[in-house]
Amino acid sequence: MNLKDKVVVIAGATGGIGREITRAFAKEKVKLVLVARRKVVLDSLKLEAEKLDSKVNVFECDLTDQPSVERFVFDLKKGHKQVDILVNAAGIGVYKSLPEIKFDEWQRSLSVNVTAPFLLIQKLLPLLKKSTKAYVLSTGSGMGRVAMAKRSAYCTSKFALRGLMLSLAKEYKKTNVQFCHLTLGSVLTAFGPLSLEDKLASQKKGKKYLDPAWLAHTIVAKVKNDTMEDEVTIYPSQYFGESKKGKTA
Ligand SMILES: NC(=O)c1ccc[n+]([C@@H]2O[C@H](COP(=O)([O-])OP(=O)(O)OC[C@H]3O[C@@H](n4cnc5c(N)ncnc54)[C@H](OP(=O)(O)O)[C@@H]3O)[C@@H](O)[C@H]2O)c1
Repeated sequence: MNLKDKVVVIAGATGGIGREITRAFAKEKVKLVLVARRKVVLDSLKLEAEKLDSKVNVFECDLTDQPSVERFVFDLKKGHKQVDILVNAAGIGVYKSLPEIKFDEWQRSLSVNVTAPFLLIQKLLPLLKKSTKAYVLSTGSGMGRVAMAKRSAYCTSKFALRGLMLSLAKEYKKTNVQFCHLTLGSVLTAFGPLSLEDKLASQKKGKKYLDPAWLAHTIVAKVKNDTMEDEVTIYPSQYFGESKKGKTA
């Protein structure tokens, strides 16, 4: 697939993974639509991507707020008649034991991690259908397949996201819109309760993380080469070239 001038919407473009996916698509000279809450970060990404000859629109949007999402889609439609790729890369990680989880944290976990992708997909579907070949990619987690203790809010949201994506992959199988769930191991970003510095310290002690730039390059290459599947699993074991029996995230 020639990516030049394709319209790529990235929700969560300001995050550790979203930023690298933005950069990797910018190198392909796509038309970028970047969505997140932090306008300053969006604006600096826009400048960076424009230097690579990518055209960029930024939208400040709280994805937990339905009217904001609808306003974003309304404004997007003024400038774009179709969308070729939607990347759901926004998310939060509440890693707490059951008694510690505040109701608001539970609700926000489901809202950002599952409801926002659902809403964006539903609202952008008419524009995705106009593409000759459209992709919807969502950043899922290994914790959406194998549960862990003290991660109930996160695991619940990621199991649900995986269910959403795999169900839609079947629903739209014979259409131009391909749904891909990215099942990812730990990535070296500031996601969740640990800071980037904490993770760098753990990495020095042997914990393995995916490099976000490598991950983004791998994802964009799969779109470009038309080798995306309904579920693509990427764990650090692959990044470090270990055998399947080796360590995963
Ligand atoms: N890092 C990992 O180890 C890992 C592993 C597997 C899967 N994932 C998944 O990958 C995704 C991205 O992770 P990351 O590592 O890039 O995390 P990150 O660096 O913490 O970035 C999170 C992103 O989500 C956006 N976001 C959060 N709440 C939002 C809201 N209410 N409205 C709009 N945007 C919101 C943030 O943007 P603003 O703050 O600017 O709004 C930011 O762009 C998440 O879904 C995560 O579950 C991550």
